[in-house]
Amino acid sequence: MTAGLRFGIAGLNRGSHFLRSLNSWDDTRLAAVCDPDFARTEQLRDELGDARVCESYEEMLECGIDAVIVATPIHLHAPQSAEALRRGIHVFSEVSAATSLEQCRALVAAARASSAKYMMGENCCYMKSFALVKSMADAGLFGEVYYAEAEYVHEVRPFPGAAKWRDRWLFGRRGATYITHPLGTVLNWLDDRVVSVNCVGTGPHIDPSRGNDDSSVMLCLTSRGALVKIRHDEMSPRPSTLNYAALQGTNGAYEALRHDDDTHRVCLDEPGTDPKHRKWRPLWDFEADYLPGYWQGASEDDVHGGSDGLTLRAFVDCVLNDTPSPIDVYRALDFTAPGLMSEVSIEQAGAQVAVPDFRLM
Ligand SMILES: NC(=O)c1ccc[n+]([C@@H]2O[C@H](COP(=O)([O-])OP(=O)(O)OC[C@H]3O[C@@H](n4cnc5c(N)ncnc54)[C@H](O)[C@@H]3O)[C@@H](O)[C@H]2O)c1
Repeated sequence: MTAGLRFGIAGLNRGSHFLRSLNSWDDTRLAAVCDPDFARTEQLRDELGDARVCESYEEMLECGIDAVIVATPIHLHAPQSAEALRRGIHVFSEVSAATSLEQCRALVAAARASSAKYMMGENCCYMKSFALVKSMADAGLFGEVYYAEAEYVHEVRPFPGAAKWRDRWLFGRRGATYITHPLGTVLNWLDDRVVSVNCVGTGPHIDPSRGNDDSSVMLCLTSRGALVKIRHDEMSPRPSTLNYAALQGTNGAYEALRHDDDTHRVCLDEPGTDPKHRKWRPLWDFEADYLPGYWQGASEDDVHGGSDGLTLRAFVDCVLNDTPSPIDVYRALDFTAPGLMSEVSIEQAGAQVAVPDFRLM
């Protein structure tokens, strides 16, 4: 095909997860890629089709693309996104949006000055179970949600072959340094933002030479007075719980599965229930009535339970239909900035630290 939104992809490890979607949709086309590791482009030769292989990011931005997927190491997301926005190129950025407050400010300035769309691809918001819970929360089934918790517990400490960006930007840095997955999930449910964080950690036990805590816990207060607890741990020897999250409202609760043999559960305060005999129900009892339309007919049979394709689809639709970005620059920083401020809090023994609202910048 020759028509469609012309995409470039920067960074072909994580970036390669989007090839299947781009190559299968009628209204998108992979036009160019860039990765300084040319072995990656060789490995992906069949899937890249006739896409132009560029020597640099700048060359890719100059070759006539409409949109770019920024899937490079984490510290490049904000500057590369800003560079594309300045040229009027729509941006789908990987998480996190930025690695410093200075980067946050530069990204906001670029997004404000651009007519192009920016979306941070926080795919956990699009996971089937979490999307269903969001729709139930929006419908008021849980009442007023006043507590939520979620985790990113993923043993990826510097093993041979581990992604280098983690080594530089996560290990050795104290705080909840990679938390858009759990925090984005719960802020999406709450439709709220974090105003302050307190962060404390365990200290380093697994690898004291690195200095980062094995586990960090960030407590967040939101603008509407909800409490959110986020645990971040990329060190501890145990199976991952990437997708654990839970909420509590005035009318009920949800708990995600923690283990593969577990199930997602909901408890609602239904009329006539004796509080002494409350029971959990399977989340999937609510699927027929509350699953968002974009999940109808979608498949969970892909990386990250099918959420990657749906997240990118939401971006493509907002560009083609000229509708607001589902996770625009401000929302992206709502998901990102609390983690940056947790680094300040943990160095001050868990002191409460305010989180800036970049809408007011
Ligand atoms: N949303 C998700 O579920 C998810 C999953 C994995 C990774 N990520 C994010 O994606 C990003 C990349 O992760 P990864 O695991 O692929 O990392 P990685 O380090 O394995 O790969 C990054 C790739 O980017 C390339 N690169 C480096 N500099 C570049 C440049 N200037 N221009 C173009 N390419 C460049 C590298 O050669 C490498 O191939 C991370 O920041 C991570 O946060 C998100």
